[in-house]
Amino acid sequence: MTAAQEEALVKEQAESGFSPNSEYGEAYRTARANIVFSLMINGCKKVAVSSPKSGEGKTTTAMNLAYMLAYQMDTRVLLIDCDLRKPQIHEYFHCECTPGLTNYLIKECSIDDLLRQQNDAPGLSVAFGGRMAPNPAEILASPLFSTFLEEMESEYDYIIMDTPPVNAVTDGLSVIKLCDGVVLSVVQGFSLHSELSRTIHIISGIGAKILGAVIHGVEKKRNGGYGYP
Ligand SMILES: Nc1ncnc2c1ncn2[C@@H]1O[C@H](COP(=O)(O)OP(=O)(O)OP(=O)(O)O)[C@@H](O)[C@H]1O
Ligand SMILES: [Mg+2]
Repeated sequence: MTAAQEEALVKEQAESGFSPNSEYGEAYRTARANIVFSLMINGCKKVAVSSPKSGEGKTTTAMNLAYMLAYQMDTRVLLIDCDLRKPQIHEYFHCECTPGLTNYLIKECSIDDLLRQQNDAPGLSVAFGGRMAPNPAEILASPLFSTFLEEMESEYDYIIMDTPPVNAVTDGLSVIKLCDGVVLSVVQGFSLHSELSRTIHIISGIGAKILGAVIHGVEKKRNGGYGYP
């Protein structure tokens, strides 16, 4: 897929995902309702979006969940790009990646520089990934990151974190350890059962709670939606 095609797809998904009457929007609202219910039951506030490998919709899921929580639930949401090896959230907002989380954690910028407010969703703030660093695993395991999350907890109702794939690198586990729950993102026909089992084993092994999964690539119903106008 070319960069232009990728850009068009991300834009189309973002627009359709945020369109209240689209099927894509409907699917995310259902996922959101289930996840919010799970968050409330489990008392979760900090949520990581994770998956076994690359390309399973983590960034898309994190982005849409954060947006819809802020936009439709009228809550204060912070979306953080914790995939420091392959930061992508800024692309959805057509922004530069810097200054971002890496810059903040290596003390190159302030919290005010890091947090970007969104005009179309007043409750949503976003922290982009920041500049490439040679040691993302160490950066995410640093006390400064956990202190940052603690501070943000008093400011936001939900903190949604995009993370790198669990089976590929260990960076995400430092983030997951600090979260109240994990949402898995998988793609029908692409995510393998064995890989998913391994991910669940790893995540459960560090004592984290799996809240549920968003499954991408499920064929649309032929008549679409629920038939409501
Ligand atoms: N529901 C969906 N339907 C169709 N395409 C999708 C869907 N969700 C995501 N995609 C596309 O799949 C690709 C991978 O999605 P995304 O970047 O969100 O995955 P990821 O798990 O974050 O990948 P990585 O681990 O490489 O960061 C992207 O091109 C995205 O536009
Ligand atoms: Mg991603």
